[in-house]
Amino acid sequence: MKNTIIAPSVLAADFANLQRDAEMLNNSAADWFHIDIMDGVFVPNISFGMPVLQAIQRHTQKPLDVHLMIVQPERYIETFRRLGAEIITIHYEACPHLHRTIQQIKDSGCKAGVALNPHTPVNVLEDILHDIDLVLIMSVNPGFGGQKFIEYTFEKVKKLRKMIQDKGLTILIEIDGGVTTDNARALVEAGADALVAGSFVFNSENPTQTIQDLKNSCEA
Ligand code: DX5
Ligand code: ZN
Repeated sequence: MKNTIIAPSVLAADFANLQRDAEMLNNSAADWFHIDIMDGVFVPNISFGMPVLQAIQRHTQKPLDVHLMIVQPERYIETFRRLGAEIITIHYEACPHLHRTIQQIKDSGCKAGVALNPHTPVNVLEDILHDIDLVLIMSVNPGFGGQKFIEYTFEKVKKLRKMIQDKGLTILIEIDGGVTTDNARALVEAGADALVAGSFVFNSENPTQTIQDLKNSCEA
């Protein structure tokens, strides 16, 4: 079976111990650091901004997977690139000029991802799939960690996997929200390549082991 990418969400880390938590991720089976940026406008919550990301970046040895839950993301692409982003994912719902913003991300040297809210059907990406590296399917409503996984996500993943296959493309499918060892394997079987997990990892007694458990559950 393929190697599933595990991307723990730093949103659930202890912000007073970011260096400790970053080092834990460096020494774990995590593949990426998932960075949730929320602006209080696109989503009803504010997470953290550039100075915090700069502090995180100093302690990370793995790719930064930056998920922008903000309006007008085009204003900040180059800044996030400078702060170490390797993947920048913007929301379909926040981008009237999605094609242009995707090009901007690629021109900055990052891989480009597009995120879909739970209510947004995957077929809106039909004509833009050729231009992107990753689709992030939200399996909760964006804005908060620790929410319940929306079961319909499985159908969306299967549909999207088929769309990608039919076009002969190589695009990663990432799932974000409510991921645990209970649904990880089924998500991979439906077609997911990357799984974000926040509270399941950081609220556990042994986050390093929980990351390994997630990895193992995808391969079992
Ligand atoms: C939600 C964020 C997620 C969140 C996931 O808006 O995009 O990345 O941190 O948290 P859990 O895994 O707790 O659902
Ligand atoms: Zn996220």
